[in-house]
Amino acid sequence: MAPSLPQRPVNGVNGFTRNGLKNGTKKLASEIMQQYGYEEIEQSANYILSLTKHRPAIGIICGSGLGGLAELLEEKDAFPYEDIPHFPVSTVAGHAGRMVTGLLAGVPVICMQGRFHCYEGYALWKCAMPVRVMKLVGVSHLIVTNAAGGLNPSYNIGDIMILKDHINMQGFAGDSPLKGHNDERFGPRFLALNNSYDMRLRQMAMECAKEMGIAPHIHEGVYVMLGGPTYETVAELRLLRMLGIDAVGMSTVPEVIVARHCEMKVFAFSLITNECITEYESTKEANHAEVIETANERQNDLNHLVTRMVASMGQDIESIASINQNKNGVESQDDTSNLH
Ligand code: HPA
Repeated sequence: MAPSLPQRPVNGVNGFTRNGLKNGTKKLASEIMQQYGYEEIEQSANYILSLTKHRPAIGIICGSGLGGLAELLEEKDAFPYEDIPHFPVSTVAGHAGRMVTGLLAGVPVICMQGRFHCYEGYALWKCAMPVRVMKLVGVSHLIVTNAAGGLNPSYNIGDIMILKDHINMQGFAGDSPLKGHNDERFGPRFLALNNSYDMRLRQMAMECAKEMGIAPHIHEGVYVMLGGPTYETVAELRLLRMLGIDAVGMSTVPEVIVARHCEMKVFAFSLITNECITEYESTKEANHAEVIETANERQNDLNHLVTRMVASMGQDIESIASINQNKNGVESQDDTSNLH
């Protein structure tokens, strides 16, 4: 007689639920799937607005090891994620875990010092929910930074890649930060993503890089987000290269999708922190310590680049606001009225 197979756990037996999850984990799973509604996002935004005098139109997401930028803000107010209603909490070394408002180059900004990744266990919509909070705070322009492996063989460690496009691998597999109920107050059900990475902002960044004398270290390229937390195999990297990918990371794409959904203008760049190993003979390995070390070494240039971009973007936003003011004869004062 064939040996009997182990019994599938039955509801309530041995602490398991019917679908095999331990009691308690089922509750967690259903919470992760439960997207926040407009009202919850509004509560997060109002919490920040009620505790800071700043009214930023520019948001910045600081990637691995790049959070030092937030320290440069003047007249800053800091909000640890655990204090903001409905906010997840960052669990990665090198990610501080707070929102900071303040002035950069005299322009009011809001910075995410530390972000959320799907490898921490968060659904894609939750990784990107702070972008919606920024929108309700008043942000119209988003700067997204990340650390990435350089797959394009012409890239060197320490180079900067301005994103001109991305490949959304999770989207290929049926996942999206916009999956589920669509609230039209944020944006439309179906969304075009060509021109996601604003051409004018990319040109602006190239001009800033030239003025800084770092243009030879700047590229424009295509980014891919993989789920992580593992770095890629040689075969995976060879596949990605065939697909036209220049840099590989574990973030950014959900945030950019959600930002475009609510009509933000987006500028994003990757710091190339390590080389992607595409040779079986190589004994080199990607590791988090190298990522953080490169980010620390290149922090000054990155901070300068972002500061210059904010100064230029601030002028742009001001002139758009004054054109609108002249057109309408009034200026919109309501902090949370920037959605339909
Ligand atoms: N792969 C994926 N994510 C990364 C890498 C990498 O090589 N470097 C920094 N983030």
